[in-house]
Amino acid sequence: MKRLFLTGASSGIGLAIAKALNARGDEVWGTSRDPGRVPQLPRLHPVRLDLSDPNSIDQSFKTALSEAGHFDVVINNAGSGHFGAAEHLSEAEIQSQFQILVFGQLQLMRLAMAEMRERGHGLIINVTSLASSLPVPFMAAYNAAKAALAAYTMSLQLELPDSNVRIVDLQPADISTGFNDAVPKNVDHDARYQEQVAKTWSAVERNMKNAPPPELVAKHALRLIDSTNPPPRIIVGDAFQSKVAPLIFRFLPQRIRVWGLKMYYGI
Ligand SMILES: NC(=O)c1ccc[n+]([C@@H]2O[C@H](COP(=O)([O-])OP(=O)(O)OC[C@H]3O[C@@H](n4cnc5c(N)ncnc54)[C@H](OP(=O)(O)O)[C@@H]3O)[C@@H](O)[C@H]2O)c1
Repeated sequence: MKRLFLTGASSGIGLAIAKALNARGDEVWGTSRDPGRVPQLPRLHPVRLDLSDPNSIDQSFKTALSEAGHFDVVINNAGSGHFGAAEHLSEAEIQSQFQILVFGQLQLMRLAMAEMRERGHGLIINVTSLASSLPVPFMAAYNAAKAALAAYTMSLQLELPDSNVRIVDLQPADISTGFNDAVPKNVDHDARYQEQVAKTWSAVERNMKNAPPPELVAKHALRLIDSTNPPPRIIVGDAFQSKVAPLIFRFLPQRIRVWGLKMYYGI
């Protein structure tokens, strides 16, 4: 039986992971900004956490840790997006994305690592995104924040001396969740972008609808948790997005990559 701290356990990927862990008897401290949204299940302990508030991050991890005693695994999954032209993103919007998707996650990772390094054992899974290398148009701050967390994760993998504390970058491709429903759209104030914005959003919605369910990510997360030597990075999604596209992109010049992504989103 493992003890895990899992952010964003109230919906989508986090909820699927929480349920899968619960079904096999693991003990999970699962977070939401409103703990009432975390399902009532035995061994699933709801924790309040708001990644936009550093005090909340500190408090929720420390409270959960004092209840749990230790964490074998910490999964940094919670996150949200935005939609709007990069040219017009406000400082506040960019900062908010970086707080939620980078600084908040790093704060949690530091807290988790301090405890795991002391015990000499543990696994941290950072849920970034395929968008870290194949960016989605009109989600510039999201793409950039996910790329920052992916690079930070890889830096830690380079630096960590041989130890049983492992860090994995789990990159979902499109996964069918309610993620888009929570995305604030800031798209109205520049008519020059209207057509591309509309085309991109319909492609994003279509991709999401046809995407695999979050249980696929849960299945891979459980495999990572059970592995004695987990891979540093995995991409999870349908075969085209998770295998074919990243492989082709690796060998293409940047000009063709940009062209290919524009074709993919129809803009
Ligand atoms: N779905 C995809 O296609 C996809 C693709 C690539 C990467 N991802 C990544 O996968 C992760 C999970 O996304 P999902 O698709 O499962 O979306 P989701 O269904 O919208 O779930 C997001 C989770 O994050 C929590 N959350 C959102 N903002 C938060 C904040 N400020 N502080 C604390 N918790 C917050 C939500 O909890 P509350 O609202 O209850 O607080 C919810 O549990 C995210 O990091 C996302 O970027 C998703």
